[in-house]
Amino acid sequence: MRSFAVKGGCSHITAALSFPGDKSIAHRAAILGALASGTTTLRNFPANEDCLSTLSIIRRLGVRVARDGTVVRIAGKGPNGLKAPDSRLLIKESGTTYRLMLGVLAGQGFDSTLAAGASLSGRPMLRVTGPLRRMGARLQGRRSAGEEYPPVTARPGRLKGFVYRMPVASAQVKSALLLAGLFADGLTTVVEKVPTRDHTERMLEQFGAATRRSRNSFSVRGKAHLVSPGTVTIPGDISSAAFFIVLGSIIPRSAIRISNIGLNPTRSGIIAVLRRMGADIRVCKRYPGAEPRGDIMVRSAALKATTVTRKEIPLLIDELPVLMVAAACARGTTVFKAAQELRVKETDRINSMLFNLSRMGVDGWTEKAGREEAVFIAGVPELRGAWVSGFGDHRTAMSMAVAGVKAQGVTVIDDIDCINKSFPGFVAALRKCCRL
Ligand code: S3P
Repeated sequence: MRSFAVKGGCSHITAALSFPGDKSIAHRAAILGALASGTTTLRNFPANEDCLSTLSIIRRLGVRVARDGTVVRIAGKGPNGLKAPDSRLLIKESGTTYRLMLGVLAGQGFDSTLAAGASLSGRPMLRVTGPLRRMGARLQGRRSAGEEYPPVTARPGRLKGFVYRMPVASAQVKSALLLAGLFADGLTTVVEKVPTRDHTERMLEQFGAATRRSRNSFSVRGKAHLVSPGTVTIPGDISSAAFFIVLGSIIPRSAIRISNIGLNPTRSGIIAVLRRMGADIRVCKRYPGAEPRGDIMVRSAALKATTVTRKEIPLLIDELPVLMVAAACARGTTVFKAAQELRVKETDRINSMLFNLSRMGVDGWTEKAGREEAVFIAGVPELRGAWVSGFGDHRTAMSMAVAGVKAQGVTVIDDIDCINKSFPGFVAALRKCCRL
């Protein structure tokens, strides 16, 4: 456990930054690389705990993986090439690895058990195991109070394609079903009421899967051969860049240039919302490729409150904690509608952020209407440095470091080790921007 002290009152930031590859895209590229024929080279692969967990799991399934810094080579096994693991697969704390691999393992001809670390063991899995069972998967998890949790054991079962209308907006659930669909008879179709990140769909297309896309659905045909596209270059992670996009907006006289970040419209909701709050964010350059990416310039601006709608939430779900910091620095009260999914992330992020922000002098509260829960944050002229907690959650800890840079006085975050889950270079990047 390592605490982290942040000196507040940063006067200005001038920096040029780039970020390790997108975590969501990296998981998908590694998994599809393992299932395709041919070698896939992944460039700008992020060496964070979650993505390394995916690499270690596919290795345990008999896939050769070589990593040299940010370059990863995966010797694909083809769709039927995975081998039974010699013991249970321990997926530490990576929820994306867990849920996506549930989809893959449900379709294999061998038994496997997916175990998880302490925090992931408390996160709901029924949203994935339920629809996978409807496809014919034979899964058994730990049941408690009407929910299902890790560990989950998958036994060989014959999967059949189906049409699934998503009750919760979740890219992990959608992706697990599409990956299971690769091993199913016939067509698997996922229909979304609200769009979520579409990295799996783009990656399936890149790997030559038999797919069909419509306005609100995506289908994959099972038993088709996947072929490696050769090289996949992973754009910088917008979820890591988000901390610096907010920092550049709230610290006066700042200019931060960020190169090569993912600008997929199903991921870049934070840019649209911050612009609506008055932020000065310009896209300077766009690059071609399966995943939109580009360079942006962020300059400080006076922010005003906004309402983040239910449809926008999935487009910025992981950026909500740092957007709450932006809201705390804005004039007026910002509303985050239908933010209840934050309660089942690495920690309950509504609780963690409202607790921490209140210590810094910010009023925040929630209102429930049926299954939906809105979060309100009333902006303040000045944040007060405080002792806060990361609640063991990487995004809460990094968001509070951003708040600390803006605050008057010193902010201490109880434990910063959790940031290694997604962004081990965060503290170094922050130091590059401001003297802490
Ligand atoms: C992710 C989807 C989101 C997100 C998570 C990564 C993905 O989770 O919060 O960090 O890579 O598909 P949900 O699908 O639970 O919303």
